[in-house]
Amino acid sequence: MRSSQNLESQDRESDKLLRLSIEKLVYGGYGLARHRSKTFLVRYAAPRELVDAEVIHTKRDYAEALVKSVVLSSNVRREAPCPYYGVCGGCQLQHIEYTAQLESKEEILRETLSRIGKITDPNLMDGIPSGQEFGYRIRVQFKVRNGRVGFFRWNEREVVDVDHCPVAHPRINDLIKPLKECARHIRELQEVHVIYSPYEDKFLLKFVTPTEIDRGLLVSLKEDYLPEDVVGIGDYSRLRTILNRRYWIGKEYLFFKVGPWTYRVSADSFFQVNHTLWERFVEAVASDVSYRKALELYCGVGFFTIPLSERGNFIEGSDSSGSAIDDADYNAKINGRDNVVFVKADAYRHLKSRGGEVLDLVVLDPPRSGLEGKEIDLLVKNKPERIVYVSCNPSTLARDLKVLIKNGYLLEGIRLIDMFPQTYHIESVSYLRVQE
Ligand SMILES: C[S@@+](CC[C@H](N)C(=O)[O-])C[C@H]1O[C@@H](n2cnc3c(N)ncnc32)[C@H](O)[C@@H]1O
Repeated sequence: MRSSQNLESQDRESDKLLRLSIEKLVYGGYGLARHRSKTFLVRYAAPRELVDAEVIHTKRDYAEALVKSVVLSSNVRREAPCPYYGVCGGCQLQHIEYTAQLESKEEILRETLSRIGKITDPNLMDGIPSGQEFGYRIRVQFKVRNGRVGFFRWNEREVVDVDHCPVAHPRINDLIKPLKECARHIRELQEVHVIYSPYEDKFLLKFVTPTEIDRGLLVSLKEDYLPEDVVGIGDYSRLRTILNRRYWIGKEYLFFKVGPWTYRVSADSFFQVNHTLWERFVEAVASDVSYRKALELYCGVGFFTIPLSERGNFIEGSDSSGSAIDDADYNAKINGRDNVVFVKADAYRHLKSRGGEVLDLVVLDPPRSGLEGKEIDLLVKNKPERIVYVSCNPSTLARDLKVLIKNGYLLEGIRLIDMFPQTYHIESVSYLRVQE
């Protein structure tokens, strides 16, 4: 990507290029531009700048383009700190100052609530920025192909080999070299998932292959190439989005500390990735509530449930993952919480089983797909006084909030949690109360 302040001088190559004026950023990390009544989604653009861009895909109602040179630069554009940026597809916003990334994410959240949820002028409360722009991720999924270890290109299946990833915790970066040694010995290796506990300074690894890795080979690779801090390794297959464990060697879980709370997290349980905002995230969900009886759906290992249990009489958490619920039970014990019960159940079944009960509070943190229609139906039938909705996808959030509002809830406020700096992902917490 080259920079030029000269509007007039366009070289030959630029005959194939389109000069586009970028209005703003949109979801996905693209700059939005319009040209001859067509919409362009432009990779590596910054808000309010003029670029020359190459069109890379054309669809019926929009085209995707790539910035080739910046004609008039945005005042929030910066040199991306990572040498792989622009080739590796893991990050989309490194070329934009961090405060401007936050502003754009808030603008996208506001615009999505309005467009999909028909929610105009929401109360956007103070956001929670990441404690660090870089080095924040404690879970990383490396892709592997023919010995290359790294990440996919933007929207492509080709692996970009990396020696370093600046958004990963520095200790995870220490593992990349040894992982490349392992990749040399396991020809079919497709992915390595790394989980790191800053509290224990220890790692768990999941190796994903189409056919089983010889157990003896994995044991010897662990001894010969991996540091002692790797305390457990599993062999997994992948079926679409589901990982299936074949076997495990060593310790199966790590402990994490968040403020006063301790969590055991097994290799197959979910845990929030950005360690630099864990405490403030918990506070955003659990500090301003009180209840006699509460439910938490999609509770994982009890990340919010355990702190929430201090705020009321009785709370029940549920998750469809058996591994997460085993951890959650254990976490209730080691944190001395006796007013919390965990149930292995999908969200619909759990809500259904509590149909006739009076609930003061329901906390939800669903995956990207948001709530299912039948889950919302049960939720609005039950009418808990308050709902706290944690979301990692503004589109499904806006869709679900629209239904909740239509069924008598007031959106009192919403705040951005910047869990994923340098990327387009938008996490948020919404606070709803039933209207009299
Ligand atoms: C985004 S994570 C949130 C976990 C937890 N709130 C936390 O902060 O660690 C979503 C969780 O939903 C669970 N899950 C996915 N689909 C589910 C479903 N249909 N019913 C219940 N839990 C589900 C996953 O196992 C995962 O633990």
